[in-house]
Amino acid sequence: MSVLIKGARLYGEGDPVDVLVADGLISAIGAVEAPEGAEVIEAAGQALLPGFVDLHTHLREPGREDAETIETGSAAAALGGYTAVFAMANTDPVADNAVVVEHVWRRGRETGLVDVHPVGAVTVGLAGEKLAELGTMAKSVAGVRMFSDDGHCVSDPLLMRRALEYSTALNAVVAQHAEEPRLTIGAQAHEGETASRLGYAGWPASAEESIVARDCILAKHAGAKLHVCHVSTAGTVDVLRWAKDRGTEVSAEVTPHHLLLTDERLATYDPVNKVNPPLRTGGDAARLRAALAEGVIDCVATDHAPHPVQDKDTEWAVAKPGMLGLQTALSVVTETMVRTGLLDWRGVARVLSERPAEIAGLPDQGRPLVTGEPANLVLVDPDAEWTVRGVELASLAANTPYEGMRLPGVVTLTLLRGRITAREGKIE
Ligand code: DOR
Ligand code: ZN
Repeated sequence: MSVLIKGARLYGEGDPVDVLVADGLISAIGAVEAPEGAEVIEAAGQALLPGFVDLHTHLREPGREDAETIETGSAAAALGGYTAVFAMANTDPVADNAVVVEHVWRRGRETGLVDVHPVGAVTVGLAGEKLAELGTMAKSVAGVRMFSDDGHCVSDPLLMRRALEYSTALNAVVAQHAEEPRLTIGAQAHEGETASRLGYAGWPASAEESIVARDCILAKHAGAKLHVCHVSTAGTVDVLRWAKDRGTEVSAEVTPHHLLLTDERLATYDPVNKVNPPLRTGGDAARLRAALAEGVIDCVATDHAPHPVQDKDTEWAVAKPGMLGLQTALSVVTETMVRTGLLDWRGVARVLSERPAEIAGLPDQGRPLVTGEPANLVLVDPDAEWTVRGVELASLAANTPYEGMRLPGVVTLTLLRGRITAREGKIE
């Protein structure tokens, strides 16, 4: 089967071209006649980008299939323009062994909408006490290359040091959820003016920044690769800049919600706005956007965190933290980074596809748009807008903080190895 994408602009730049996809590869670029039987996609005015790669997705399977499954999460990913996602380990049972990571990997393959790469837990049961069998997970058919206790911080410095050392030998990266737990006991929201006024217990910026600083020092010492999950504060940007300047192999992600939303949302008392790390100040969000444009923050990752109504639509203190993200990421990046002039579409390709693929060591994702490369692609209509409705999203849960918002940037086509996975908002 071949697909001819007609009249798209590569990276949203230059003259429109036709792109022929055949046998899973980009087989021709230029003025191309449709071969017999080819599916022709009219793409005038649209931007063709490499398929997006999400380093931070919660697919909830196994264990919380009432919130999301690998199938529904994969559908949300394909509709959002993703061709690969990393499924976090905080499932039930925890993905801290080869059996669970192989299960996740296999279910992803069977679903076939997006490459699902399981993340392995750093510690057994995410308990932070004993290292999980990193080597067994790395050598399993799932080929785990990212380890994280996300949802929890690996707060013991000795365990973190060992995890970094082992992961170097395994050619893997440790992704840290940076939250010093002693500083966030009982925390409900960003520690600052808004939380004090509304009476929420605070989650201080220093709880994130102190762990990021410590881990950068540990990673440099171990000669290891560290990835910092969901950077949320201006101070963390300063720490990352310092660490990168002294040659630390550290990469970092920011979520769409930390780019767009702020702690002023707390005044709604609506737990849809509860997330970990919490929404910060407008000043933090501005610094995160600038750092992403500059490359101090490498990429955008969704932290897609589906929760069913009974866990979310409840009083703030008991509501689970987390927000849907896969189907809205491109639009939030368009709104915060493209419409503001901070990034062009080549920059969007960098932060949503190329850098995350490099960080995770994926050889076939985030590749240049040239002949002979794997056809993991997304077509974006930069000028179209849509209104977000949680119930219309492919996820089983509906906890989007963008409910009712009109956002720019629409994914019109996603191709995984040359096969159409999503088109015009529908799964193929
Ligand atoms: O808001 C969050 N939700 N942050 C995390 O670290 C975990 C995630 C989840 O699993 O729901
Ligand atoms: Zn996290």
